[in-house]
Amino acid sequence: MSYLETAAEFYSEVAQTPQVGLCCVQSSPLQLPGLKVPCQMREMNYGCGTTVHPTELAGEPTVLYVGVGGGLEALQFAYFSRRPAGVIAVDPVAAMREAANRNLAIAALKNDWFEPSYVEIREGDAFALPVPDASVDVVAQNCLFNIFAPSDLAKALQEAYRVLKPGGRLLMSDPIATRPIPAHLQQDDRLRAMCLSGALTYEQYIQQLVSAGFGQVEIRARRPYRLLDCQNYNLEAPLLLESLDSVSFKVIIPEDGPCIFTGKTAIYMGAEEFFDDSAGHILQRGVPAAVCDKTAAKFASMKSNDILITDSTWHYTGGGCC
Ligand SMILES: C[S@@+](CC[C@H](N)C(=O)[O-])C[C@H]1O[C@@H](n2cnc3c(N)ncnc32)[C@H](O)[C@@H]1O
Repeated sequence: MSYLETAAEFYSEVAQTPQVGLCCVQSSPLQLPGLKVPCQMREMNYGCGTTVHPTELAGEPTVLYVGVGGGLEALQFAYFSRRPAGVIAVDPVAAMREAANRNLAIAALKNDWFEPSYVEIREGDAFALPVPDASVDVVAQNCLFNIFAPSDLAKALQEAYRVLKPGGRLLMSDPIATRPIPAHLQQDDRLRAMCLSGALTYEQYIQQLVSAGFGQVEIRARRPYRLLDCQNYNLEAPLLLESLDSVSFKVIIPEDGPCIFTGKTAIYMGAEEFFDDSAGHILQRGVPAAVCDKTAAKFASMKSNDILITDSTWHYTGGGCC
């Protein structure tokens, strides 16, 4: 049995018998005015963060959701799209598609604004998405891509890139590992299916996104997720997994490298009113300006006493204050 088959079998089990707390995190579920989430959906929240960022979802976007689970995030995305097939959700596991359809029918009874036709559930997988090139505004996946071995992850990211319109966004939430996960855990297919042993390090994860062609990546959240202890996981030291929420844009990678925003700012504190680096960055004296890590590194290498670079907050929500 391949690890992907083990994963499909595992998700068939947890579609039929929900496992509360399988992937959940210490953050409040997204509340939206007028949205009532059925408890059947809450019980099947197998995400490890959130991919539903209201500020990404203006203009009734077409959303392709990969790995539907119990349908919670598909419903949340439909809240913003509000039209038939505004959300297309893909899953290879029949029992999961059935559970999501059932839960969405219950959601329709509880929410006047929602029709089950707003979420179209299709059979398919992350490696062959059943939609044409450049046809969707948003692709989202929560706690699925971490299961994939690196070469399969590359394929899944290329697929996401293919189906996104130019400028479109890939919204993801996944566990990452604070150091490489040892081989004996990586090779445990059931742990991998449970999102506990396939995670890459932060650097490897970002590199995969850039290799797929995404020119800009923004980190929306990074927080502790699970601790793999020595006793149960046969480790010499405990291994912390974190959950990472990110948004990646289908834009050309700039010649000098991708823009990765992790919440750093540059603050000019020199004698002039502002500082202009002649490369598109104008820093007003005393006012923090959001900069990507590449620009932060360039400013830091100038060794100027006039520019302060603040640390990554790992909670970047866009730059500009005036
Ligand atoms: C960890 S659950 C996450 C479910 C959902 N995203 C959530 O946040 O609750 C992983 C989901 O991906 C589905 N899945 C498994 N293998 C897949 C594949 N190769 N392509 C797409 N979806 C897959 C599973 O059936 C399951 O619905």
